[in-house]
Amino acid sequence: MALINLVEFPPLGDDRGSLVALEANVTVPFEIKRVYYIFGTKQGVSRGFHAHKNLKQVAVCVTGKCRFVLDDGQTRQEAWLDSPTKGLLIEDLVWREMHDFSEDCVLLVLASEHYDESDYIRDYDEFLKAVTQ
Ligand code: TYD
Repeated sequence: MALINLVEFPPLGDDRGSLVALEANVTVPFEIKRVYYIFGTKQGVSRGFHAHKNLKQVAVCVTGKCRFVLDDGQTRQEAWLDSPTKGLLIEDLVWREMHDFSEDCVLLVLASEHYDESDYIRDYDEFLKAVTQ
């Protein structure tokens, strides 16, 4: 599978405005167990810098934008999330960084598992060891 997997959510708007519906196993390719959102990110701050052993996520900037960098241990690729209809699917064992948050950015993340600190790999060298195993 490609490293950058962008999903275009069907806009269900009408003359009143826009609407996007995210459904487990339909628009989002897993059962959603957790939703969180990142907002009010200070200017110049980058976040992420970790991978997960067993976690799929879909990220979408519902307002504003930010730049994702994904790294599978062999290549690094980036994608701007800059539309409420554009989602980024992040698989297991992918190092992610988020940069260049706009002041108004609200980054919504849908996750396939509950929060589990022991699922995080926060050290890049440890991540490289995990992907080459
Ligand atoms: P963290 O994953 O480090 O944020 P990011 O990778 O986006 O920089 O999470 C920041 C803090 O929030 C950390 O103490 C863990 C906590 N947290 C939860 O309690 N539940 C969650 O679902 C998430 C994503 C984080």
